[in-house]
Amino acid sequence: MQKIHSSKPPEHTRTPAPAQQRLNLQDVRRDIARIMIDPNHDDGSYGPLFIRLAWHVSGTYNQSDSTGGSNGGTMRFPVERADPENAGFAKAFDVLGKIHQRHPWLSYADLYVLAGYVALEESGGPRIAMGIGRRDYTPEEAQQKYGPSLCPFGDGIRTNPNGSRLPSADLGSDAKAPPGCPMHVKEKPTIDAIRGVFSRLGFTDKETVCLIILGHQFGRCHLDVSGYEHPWYAFDPSHWNAYESGLGYPSIYQFSVARNQQRERVTSEGKRQYELSIGGPEPFMMLPVDMALWWCEKYRPHVIYYDNNRRIFRSDAAIAFKKLTELGCEGLLAQEEIEEKPLHNVRSQFEEAVRNAGRG
Ligand code: HEM
Repeated sequence: MQKIHSSKPPEHTRTPAPAQQRLNLQDVRRDIARIMIDPNHDDGSYGPLFIRLAWHVSGTYNQSDSTGGSNGGTMRFPVERADPENAGFAKAFDVLGKIHQRHPWLSYADLYVLAGYVALEESGGPRIAMGIGRRDYTPEEAQQKYGPSLCPFGDGIRTNPNGSRLPSADLGSDAKAPPGCPMHVKEKPTIDAIRGVFSRLGFTDKETVCLIILGHQFGRCHLDVSGYEHPWYAFDPSHWNAYESGLGYPSIYQFSVARNQQRERVTSEGKRQYELSIGGPEPFMMLPVDMALWWCEKYRPHVIYYDNNRRIFRSDAAIAFKKLTELGCEGLLAQEEIEEKPLHNVRSQFEEAVRNAGRG
């Protein structure tokens, strides 16, 4: 049985949980794992979408004034949902709303983070102990903290032209860069903006590389969401692709970018992306921010290190993702004691669903 060890009960909820329920996140974890599988969505799972959501609710944090971040559940409010960087989450809000109906004692703020943890684990990644106790601010509380927008949107102009505190995938080349200059000079605007956002969050260059590689080994880009398209790694886009040995996302990244095999292309939505075709039905892709980790001479050694040290990558990624999702929540959270017992095997459930769909 799942236990929360804390002398203080969590304060996040307006609907008090029965004591037994409050100690048991396993039921919620299991429900999220079940609802995550949908053979009709992308590569069969909402997992990548949930991981991106946990990052987007957390990535607004500003360590200098402790605003933003996952505490407060401000992603419930229309202005934060309308942040152009938050396009594409409608399905996640829909399915997680159903989970909330079953477990109304858990705040949305906690649920959005927990869904990311469950997705990570169910996709073959590490299990992360959940800390609960984030609050869903009432509109009055949110207004007091953020003004009429009720959320931390709008003041990120220095790192994202649309004002979002979340990073832009591309700030374009420096128009004043001399012809033939090195990429870290030419692509300085994007590199500086990544460092600007991640240092505002309180991350080192190494943690930044770890987090971006963690996230972009999963899932895909969608023309109708971001204007980019294709997955980063085509073999199994909804599962852990930083295998302990052999190729996998980090090495495809390192080999192809180092050998200049990625081809720049502009999508039909006018977005600049980088592609590598190795004969599958669609190419692998990289965003300019992914390329920037190689272009920047300070980020690059960490890319190489993590490609060569996959086991360390896995544990560093779990630590960095937990840190990201707990920014601004320090001292608030009651930590879950995690069981080693695996959840039911969602992977085989998914494979069975695909087999059955084929039979039908
Ligand atoms: C500089 C930082 C980052 C930028 C600019 C960025 C940008 C993007 C963009 C443009 C997409 C495509 C969205 C779509 O078209 O559906 C995407 C997808 C994704 N991102 Fe990031 N991202 C960043 C960092 C991260 C981090 C730190 C994580 C998690 C640790 C993450 C996790 C994901 C995931 C899982 C997807 C795939 C979603 C899906 O398949 O629906 N990203 N990101």
